[in-house]
Amino acid sequence: MSWTPSSWRNFPIKQQPQYQDQELLKKVEKELSSYPPLIFAGEARNLKNELAKVGRGEAFLLQGGDCAESFSEFKASTIKNLFKLMLQMNMVLMYSSGKPIVKVGRIAGQFAKPRSSDFEEINGVSLPSYRGDIINDIEFTSEARVPDPQRMIKAYNQSAATLNLIRAFARGGMADLAQVHQWNLDFIKDHPIGKKYDELSMKIDDALRFMNACGLEVSKLPQLHQTVLYTSHEALLLNYEEALTRKDTLTNDWYDCSAHMLWIGDRTRGLDDAHIEYFRGIKNPIGCKVGPSMKEDELIKLIDVLNPTNEEGRLNLIVRMGADKINEFYPNLLRAVKKEGRSVVWSTDPMHGNVEKTSSGFKTRDFDNILKEVKQFFEIHESEGTIAGGIHLEMTGEDVTECIGSQSCAITADGLASRYHTQCDPRLNAKQALELSFMLSDILAKYAK
Ligand code: PEP
Ligand code: CO
Repeated sequence: MSWTPSSWRNFPIKQQPQYQDQELLKKVEKELSSYPPLIFAGEARNLKNELAKVGRGEAFLLQGGDCAESFSEFKASTIKNLFKLMLQMNMVLMYSSGKPIVKVGRIAGQFAKPRSSDFEEINGVSLPSYRGDIINDIEFTSEARVPDPQRMIKAYNQSAATLNLIRAFARGGMADLAQVHQWNLDFIKDHPIGKKYDELSMKIDDALRFMNACGLEVSKLPQLHQTVLYTSHEALLLNYEEALTRKDTLTNDWYDCSAHMLWIGDRTRGLDDAHIEYFRGIKNPIGCKVGPSMKEDELIKLIDVLNPTNEEGRLNLIVRMGADKINEFYPNLLRAVKKEGRSVVWSTDPMHGNVEKTSSGFKTRDFDNILKEVKQFFEIHESEGTIAGGIHLEMTGEDVTECIGSQSCAITADGLASRYHTQCDPRLNAKQALELSFMLSDILAKYAK
């Protein structure tokens, strides 16, 4: 079965926009294909090696960011706050697990959204659904909801600028361990959760002083002064992904150079569908969401199509069952994969199976359910003797009110309206994400062998 970057076009496809102006679409695709890649294939291979370590239990995966990035919230401060939050969480998790943390952002390309319905109805008016800023506009008017191919160019440019800043932060001093106190965000600093983080930072200061005293010149160790934050998104809009698919001149392999890692959503992972066709041909590390409808034999077939050579670090299965379903559906899938000897990286997405709607119409998630699903994920792995490799979160470094609960915020259903800013699904705010990291660190410490 031959594969090309465009062979997905011969397969049925779900969750795509219907562009009216096909000429304009072709023009945009052509233009995008002439633009520079956003990542270098060698970086994707590095991430694959890191994920192989995660699969063996030698490292832990932390993946997180917006449900959907937006054109209107494109600001340096938002990127910086998410970056700092990732560094804080990294520190908390690394300290307790004693393992390196592989950091992957849902950032610099996370623009296209699958929707549960093709139409959205408000007060008796029905319009095509919002599908993410790379496709149409969130405003509830018929003009705004028309898919516009030129939005792909804007998404590319925003991704390039975002990635540029991430690389600058990662290399230019922001990630220096000497700055560990500065990563505490302003609105967290004086809060108990911020103080808890500060106590940890002091232990790190002590450790650095101790290393210096031992004669290790801390200032000369590059590992302590810089980091890597990889990028990822759901590769849903294949016109965009195809245009950024490039042949690596070193290996002659095809890579999707729009991000280091791409994943397939739970709604578009049909075995005979276009997304699986596209993903099987790219060599990046990839993810696939696994929801409660996945069957054991279906999962094995999917693994064999996506990772026929059983390569370590190639495939991350992102389990998103819901706190009330994970115990029923997950153990059998895990056992089937173990029995067949397939190498995968398992991570938990405790967000997408735990969405609820409040009486006032807000989509939210309860912190308790999120934590419950995470705990069960680890317990199941413990009892099956397999590796719980990582966590996948929707979160922001901003002080939003989108998810209810948690000790640090105690947001109630009535409080959601005050700062509900998400373009799509409700995200953990910075305090909630940090609180979850401390809880996760207790779990990791418990299972650390
Ligand atoms: C997402 O990660 O934003 C998403 C839509 O997830 P899923 O495919 O698991 O529903
Ligand atoms: Co989401």
